[in-house]
Amino acid sequence: MECWGRMLRAFLSGPGRRGATWGSAYSSWQPHRPVPGLLNATELVSHWTAIFEKEGIPEAQESSEYIVAHVLGAKTFQSLRPVLWTQPLTPWQLQCIQELSSCRLQRMPVQYILGEWDFQGLSLKMAPPVFIPRPETEELVEWVLEEVAPRPHAVGAQGGPLILEVGCGSGAISLSLLNQLPQDRIWIVPLDVTLKGSWAHLLSWGPMDLVVSNPPYVFHQDMEQLAPEILSYEDPAALDGGEKGMDIITHILALAPRLLKDSGSIFLEVDPRHPELVGGWLQSRPDLSLHLVAVRKDFCGRPRFLHIRRSGPQRGCPVHAWPGPQPARVPG
Ligand SMILES: C[S@@+](CC[C@H](N)C(=O)[O-])C[C@H]1O[C@@H](n2cnc3c(N)ncnc32)[C@H](O)[C@@H]1O
Repeated sequence: MECWGRMLRAFLSGPGRRGATWGSAYSSWQPHRPVPGLLNATELVSHWTAIFEKEGIPEAQESSEYIVAHVLGAKTFQSLRPVLWTQPLTPWQLQCIQELSSCRLQRMPVQYILGEWDFQGLSLKMAPPVFIPRPETEELVEWVLEEVAPRPHAVGAQGGPLILEVGCGSGAISLSLLNQLPQDRIWIVPLDVTLKGSWAHLLSWGPMDLVVSNPPYVFHQDMEQLAPEILSYEDPAALDGGEKGMDIITHILALAPRLLKDSGSIFLEVDPRHPELVGGWLQSRPDLSLHLVAVRKDFCGRPRFLHIRRSGPQRGCPVHAWPGPQPARVPG
């Protein structure tokens, strides 16, 4: 994946999903008419970059390059055949660029404008309000792969390790794991982890090797500081983790021991303040037999990923109590 693509996504996701500022364009946006005589891709990129900059749209050049490249059938401007940089565009192409750029002027994230975005080498469909996968989550997936791949019992087992993802959004994490592990199926189970007893639906799948989640973890008071791209287009329920960002995290942690195998693992993406908060919370709940065994930093050096391991017998559901045959597998 190209570095500037990662950077664009990092910016559009806000700095750690916190602290992004409101742009003036949000309130001052006016329609921009196509300029006659702008005929080729390079000129269109310059034209829209200037407008985006004037209107305070973040990542002005990258946004216009993505839009022009998309209309010309490429993922990035750099990957366009050079002849297309200077070749005259058709009236239809000019109209498409005009319309998509107008969406960007209304602070729609580029990912939704294009309708797809790459994650771990997969092109995922993007539509509001489904959460746009962030680049740091690729690091969470890579950590899970590192941990799972060397475990012969997991890799050798039929179908690979049994993994539960909580909060799948676009499917970025699950589809990446499906793509890179020996699994051949995923199941999608509508499940609200805050509902009492919701986990009981999962018992028929058998004890899990691993639980992974990028849960809603933004501190509630930080929500209003998020960028317009996020606030206006993404589902707040995918972001807002309550007062200390821990509402869904604690539900996952309380649920996991009932579902995990002995020594099973939980991998979480969190806010940099959460390693300490989660560590303290786990110490207050020794009944869960969960231990924070490792914390990893993201590419910006912030502690963002947790590995928590279960030890001791399963709570409330001993191994011998698991149902025998698994349910029929539904193709993912
Ligand atoms: C930050 S998004 C992560 C989406 C995706 N896994 C990713 O990394 O791109 C959090 C996800 O958790 C889901 N979610 C929010 N509250 C939930 C709940 N109570 N139970 C289950 N999932 C929930 C949201 O719908 C959203 O899909």
